[in-house]
Amino acid sequence: MKVIELTRFGLDGLVAAERPVPTPGHGEVLVRLKGASLNFHDIATLLGMANPRMKLPCVPLSDGAGEIAGLGAGVTGLTIGTRVASTFFPRWQSGAPTRWKLSDVPGEQRDGCWADYVVLPADAVVPVPEHLTDLEAATLPCAALTAWRAVVVEAKVKAGDRVLLQGTGGVSLFALQFAKLLGAETIITSSSDEKLARAQALGADHTINYKTTPQWGKRARELSGGEGVDLVVEVGGSGTFNESLNALKIGGHISMIGVLTGVADVIPTAKIMSMNAAVKGITVGSREDFLAMNRAIAVAKLKPVIGQVLPFAQAKEAYALMQRGGHFGKIAIDLTA
Ligand SMILES: NC(=O)c1ccc[n+]([C@@H]2O[C@H](COP(=O)([O-])OP(=O)(O)OC[C@H]3O[C@@H](n4cnc5c(N)ncnc54)[C@H](OP(=O)(O)O)[C@@H]3O)[C@@H](O)[C@H]2O)c1
Repeated sequence: MKVIELTRFGLDGLVAAERPVPTPGHGEVLVRLKGASLNFHDIATLLGMANPRMKLPCVPLSDGAGEIAGLGAGVTGLTIGTRVASTFFPRWQSGAPTRWKLSDVPGEQRDGCWADYVVLPADAVVPVPEHLTDLEAATLPCAALTAWRAVVVEAKVKAGDRVLLQGTGGVSLFALQFAKLLGAETIITSSSDEKLARAQALGADHTINYKTTPQWGKRARELSGGEGVDLVVEVGGSGTFNESLNALKIGGHISMIGVLTGVADVIPTAKIMSMNAAVKGITVGSREDFLAMNRAIAVAKLKPVIGQVLPFAQAKEAYALMQRGGHFGKIAIDLTA
């Protein structure tokens, strides 16, 4: 089978290779992959930032989808041909996360999805909503589930709430779609007016260009009747956190998800306190959350936003595209092309 291997950290460490099709062991399934998608985590893995001690070579990408092509001994409840997606944390089935549950990530701690086939534990795949293509299903495991957990599971957004989304990447656009599904009023920021227009077409109620409006948090509060928003889906990290607090209503919720602008800055302790802000760290979600999200996606016939699709062989191009931030929503890899 064809695979992409990360043989050493950096773009030049990505090489195309051939491997034998793996055999599923007890409790495992063989998945014939059709689609995969990129997440910022895959960039961090490529650069050796996510896990400097990871074992190489490793097949990259946490997120993939396809169909069950083989069943190991003891596997029940799945049949050959069932369409499934991978899970980001194969060991996190339900309940609260633990160190053990937050491990064994495909593409980092075990072989991932830039391949024709992957073997995964049978409880580390989920059936995918029927109306989604394989490429669309491949966008769900990390970005969609992270957005779902932020908006639905942790912040418990309800109709009439106000939600602020940062940028037009994978997590933020899923969060926009889930917030709209729940009847929230949404504000989205971007560096690009063209992307903001596309976000508006997806249902965003208000848009702010964070380049031309550096005090976008203040502007978001103005757009929220002076009160501020109930939830900020924080993907920027240290460079955006202060403005997120400026956008927030007293007692509002910040879902701390990403660190696109950096990881450390002065912590505005007094402001967090005086705002009565709830700051909640988020790392994707459990398989149980994934199943609940898929049910909502199926009922609403929600379609993931895929900005660009690249073929199997264009590994370096795909990573470079994501690093440039040239995409809108998700970057997907058509593993059949
Ligand atoms: N904790 C978790 O479980 C988890 C899960 C998934 C992702 N993440 C993290 O969340 C972040 C986003 O991930 P992603 O997969 O959605 O990435 P992505 O698809 O690459 O999104 C990147 C987008 O973020 C926007 N952005 C960059 N700098 C910004 C800034 N200063 N202010 C506002 N927006 C900014 C840009 O949007 P415009 O082009 O519109 O300006 C850019 O296109 C990453 O740090 C990633 O590691 C964490």
